[in-house]
Amino acid sequence: MTTQPSSIVLLGAGKMGFALLQGWADLGLVGGRVAVIEPSPTPELSALCAAHGARLNPADSSLAPPDSLVLAIKPQMLDSAAARIARLAGPDTLIVSILAGKTTADVLARAPEAASVVRAMPNTPAAIGRGVTGAVASAGVTGAQRHTADTLLSAVGKVEWLVDESLIDAVTAVSGSGPAYVFLLAECLAEAGRAAGLPADLAGRLARATVEGSGELMHRSPDVAPAQLRINVTSPGGTTEAALGVLMADNGLNPLMTRAVAAALARAKALSG
Ligand SMILES: NC(=O)c1ccc[n+]([C@@H]2O[C@H](COP(=O)([O-])OP(=O)(O)OC[C@H]3O[C@@H](n4cnc5c(N)ncnc54)[C@H](OP(=O)(O)O)[C@@H]3O)[C@@H](O)[C@H]2O)c1
Repeated sequence: MTTQPSSIVLLGAGKMGFALLQGWADLGLVGGRVAVIEPSPTPELSALCAAHGARLNPADSSLAPPDSLVLAIKPQMLDSAAARIARLAGPDTLIVSILAGKTTADVLARAPEAASVVRAMPNTPAAIGRGVTGAVASAGVTGAQRHTADTLLSAVGKVEWLVDESLIDAVTAVSGSGPAYVFLLAECLAEAGRAAGLPADLAGRLARATVEGSGELMHRSPDVAPAQLRINVTSPGGTTEAALGVLMADNGLNPLMTRAVAAALARAKALSG
């Protein structure tokens, strides 16, 4: 079930805000009901708003508290946007915040009349509609508002609802930061290819296409576990098994990734105070 808000204000339309707006437009959710507040609109943003009839930077006085106020500014801009947030967030407004490191309490402190916050952590593939977002609803969020948040966030990919806000730091460490780990994998594979004697540009193309294709294969095999996909391409006594013997050793990729995610988790906790 999805619930469509009748009015949306998007505060901040940089990379992630633009991705959300594009996703809503693709779902047919954008029209006069959507207002976008963005101090530095790109030509792409202006064109998207114009194409779908969204209001870009309307006068503050023309904006009533919307059904949904989506915060997509940089976290460090929260204080400078606080007065506007306080004015726009009425008692019935659902606030959807994607501000990394800003808690539900941080957001509610800037919105004295509001009671409903969904805190969410998307990731970069949202830009192509293939993100994954961890989301948690505050106690004041109604069932209908939760459906609305699900609609707004799932416009850019999958949504995983969390039972507890404390889990959002771990979500940040796994999927929020995770795309960088995958890009690094492509870099390391290319570097290893060069070490194995391939020309650098060829090694780079092979590594990139391998990560792209493997990700897409996993995407198209939703019922097959990653471990099974790995087993499917590992012949006993073959080359893949030889490499996996290194990667899956006691000091291999598993403990390394566990340490990397733990470092990201510690940093997320420190940043959210
Ligand atoms: N990008 C990601 O992969 C990702 C992933 C998870 C979460 N997030 C979260 O998403 C949020 C946005 O990140 P982003 O990468 O999209 O950053 P971004 O590209 O810098 O976008 C932020 C936009 O908000 C605008 N802005 C600043 N102050 C404002 C105000 N008072 N009112 C309205 N708009 C204002 C900025 O304009 P100016 O440039 O003029 O300052 C900028 O265009 C951040 O809180 C981040 O933690 C991002």
